[in-house]
Amino acid sequence: MNQLSDRLNSLSPSETLAMSQKSNELKAQGIDVINLSVGEPDFNTPEHIKEAAKKAIDDNFSRYSPVPGYPALRNAIVEKLKKENGLEYTAAQISCSNGAKQSVCNVVMALVGKGDEVIIPAPYWVSYPEMVKLADGTPVTIPAGIEQDFKITPAQLEAAITPKTKALILCSPSNPTGSVYSKEELAGLAAVLAKHPQIVVIADEIYEHINYIGKHESIAQFPEIFDRVVIVNGVSKAYAMTGWRIGFIAGPEWIVKACNKLQGQYTSGPCSVSQKAAEAAYTGTQAPVEEMRKAFERRRDLIVKLAKDVPGFEVNVPQGAFYLFPKCDYYFGKSCGDRKISNAADLAMYLLEVGHVACVGGAAFGAPECIRMSYATSDENIEEAIRRIKDALAKLK
Ligand SMILES: Cc1ncc(COP(=O)(O)O)c(C=O)c1O
Repeated sequence: MNQLSDRLNSLSPSETLAMSQKSNELKAQGIDVINLSVGEPDFNTPEHIKEAAKKAIDDNFSRYSPVPGYPALRNAIVEKLKKENGLEYTAAQISCSNGAKQSVCNVVMALVGKGDEVIIPAPYWVSYPEMVKLADGTPVTIPAGIEQDFKITPAQLEAAITPKTKALILCSPSNPTGSVYSKEELAGLAAVLAKHPQIVVIADEIYEHINYIGKHESIAQFPEIFDRVVIVNGVSKAYAMTGWRIGFIAGPEWIVKACNKLQGQYTSGPCSVSQKAAEAAYTGTQAPVEEMRKAFERRRDLIVKLAKDVPGFEVNVPQGAFYLFPKCDYYFGKSCGDRKISNAADLAMYLLEVGHVACVGGAAFGAPECIRMSYATSDENIEEAIRRIKDALAKLK
């Protein structure tokens, strides 16, 4: 019997979570698996943030919060956007949610309906097309391969736009590729968008602070489109706070109000204690953010160096986030005994079961020729993982 709604039946399960689960199952059997499938920093939340949360509990900060979050947190975000991004917002233009994931979903749900198209450059974060499908919309992907550093061009964007285009979801720095759009590249996209005033840009900047090229550039900086850009960000990745569940949007008031209305019927405001922690993250010392960024940069250099040495891997140099996305279709069609590798999912499963390294096949990210490896792990794990991967791949003939 399948009593589930069409909406649920058309939804794909998260492949990243599935690989993490499979890897945990093998670990539970006593197998020493190196998990490169997870999308979270391996650091602990900085002490001053934890202290703020402890104080919030002792101060009985335990009631329902306003739906978009407490004014103190929203004001802290307004200050952050001014200071770090040079962007002017009011607190009424900020809405906080249970993580950036809910923030993206709120905007999609608020804007997209049946027949609406949402442009999603591929490779993309696994959840974007699924969110669009949940909203009854149609995801329209633009392929951007490794030869263009996984970034779309203005001409590709122009060609994908139709009268039905409602939104573009742009993720920079990108999960899964680590690619980062430069100011000039964003300006090129903004110039196209300026000609199409019906399109809202959902700019997912959750990896803003994990950036190896210096300053983060937001597409919201271009005045000709500023009033229809919704920035999505949060504390999860920059402050090692994935479990605290605080994300936010900053955008035009009409969209923010719509998201508040939706959230008011759906989840209400996010966790009050986590809001105090997030406020401390934005207003306190930023030193731990830079420390973590430096560690990620060192690991990026290490994994790129090692992965470039793996026969059959084509490797881009990620400029942000903590993922490597090698092209590995060289191995499709090869076998080890009676085990044949037909696609990236097979390869990821082979690397897990034979090499004991968990990666994620690229199909879920709209790039079936690649696999994703997270390097949010120790240098030793990175070195050992690539050694195991090389050994396992060498058995494929
Ligand atoms: C591109 C991207 N956006 C949003 C999120 C979700 O962030 P949060 O944990 O704040 O919901 C992730 C997490 O993996 C992500 O990779």
